[in-house]
Amino acid sequence: MKYLVTGGAGYIGSIVATMLLEDGHEVVVLDDCSTGAAGRVPAGAELVRRPVREAGEVLDSTFDAVLHFAGLIAAGESMRKPDIYWEANTAGTFALLDAMRTAGVKTLVFSSTAAVYGDPVEVPIREDAVKAPTSTYGATKLSADMAIQSAVTAYGLAAVSLRYFNVVGAYKDRAGAWHGENHEPETHIIPIALDAAAGRRERMVLFGDDYPTKDGTCVRDYIHVADLADAHLLALRAAEAGEHKIYNLGNGNGFTNKEVVETVKRVTGVDFPVAVEGRRAGDPAELVASSEKAKTELGWKPSRDSLDRMVADAWEYYQHVHG
Ligand SMILES: NC(=O)c1ccc[n+]([C@@H]2O[C@H](COP(=O)([O-])OP(=O)(O)OC[C@H]3O[C@@H](n4cnc5c(N)ncnc54)[C@H](O)[C@@H]3O)[C@@H](O)[C@H]2O)c1
Repeated sequence: MKYLVTGGAGYIGSIVATMLLEDGHEVVVLDDCSTGAAGRVPAGAELVRRPVREAGEVLDSTFDAVLHFAGLIAAGESMRKPDIYWEANTAGTFALLDAMRTAGVKTLVFSSTAAVYGDPVEVPIREDAVKAPTSTYGATKLSADMAIQSAVTAYGLAAVSLRYFNVVGAYKDRAGAWHGENHEPETHIIPIALDAAAGRRERMVLFGDDYPTKDGTCVRDYIHVADLADAHLLALRAAEAGEHKIYNLGNGNGFTNKEVVETVKRVTGVDFPVAVEGRRAGDPAELVASSEKAKTELGWKPSRDSLDRMVADAWEYYQHVHG
């Protein structure tokens, strides 16, 4: 099969692209390398360095499906620079859908997010929960999901939206090379804590300790990137013409930010200073997934579901990259 992987120079897209290549598929990566890096595109995939807006220049009828990871991902930044989020995440998805229709490519797997739900009324969060994003990032992703729904209804697209919770960990490919998380700037708690453990940051900062949670810090649900990647391969098989299937992907376990920091300290064996600052705009108090639907309908079986394992793999990758 031949796949277009948008955002394949980034963290998750490059790992899914690696797995597709390992399974013998042909992969073309479309990425403007604005936050990703050409060097992260796996050997064996062709890189087309363009914005997703220009998908029409790349897609043709030889492609079997598109996996759409490209986008901007930092909720905090999206509150300060909304325009670039609407452009990359929403306008980019419109352009991609148009290009797919023109080229006759009928299957799409989209990287949606837990951020579409906003502050949940009930946890764990099911797919039919109220969608009320508290960040511009979440709003741009929800709009993209809605545009996909329209294309499904109007043109019979086969679409799967995967709503990831917090993605962590790293993937060791069949040749023994590690692929992991390396955002610039990094906004995710585990790589930041690893930086502090490695002495590359003076201290770790937690945003807000006055949330209505057990220790006052935000609660999140973590999913190993390799389990997430497995769900994409299952989603490609499950896609059906005229249907928009939507699945939450997490492990159903909530960890407070303080618990995550303690896990990083335990796994790395390093104690490091932690400071608390004010809340960050757009951060809900608690996001924990119900992934029962993915398990039942996709047959998804996460096998790397302990936080210690996720942190250990992220640490392995971190040491590989930073020495
Ligand atoms: N990392 C997480 O925890 C998480 C959680 C929920 C959802 N997601 C979604 O998963 C997807 C991948 O996330 P990631 O962590 O791998 O991010 P990432 O930043 O590592 O990768 C995103 C890639 O998209 C590319 N890109 C950005 N804007 C583009 C544009 N306009 N045109 C072409 N390429 C563009 C970047 O250069 C980068 O390579 C994103 O869509 C994100 O919203 C991620």
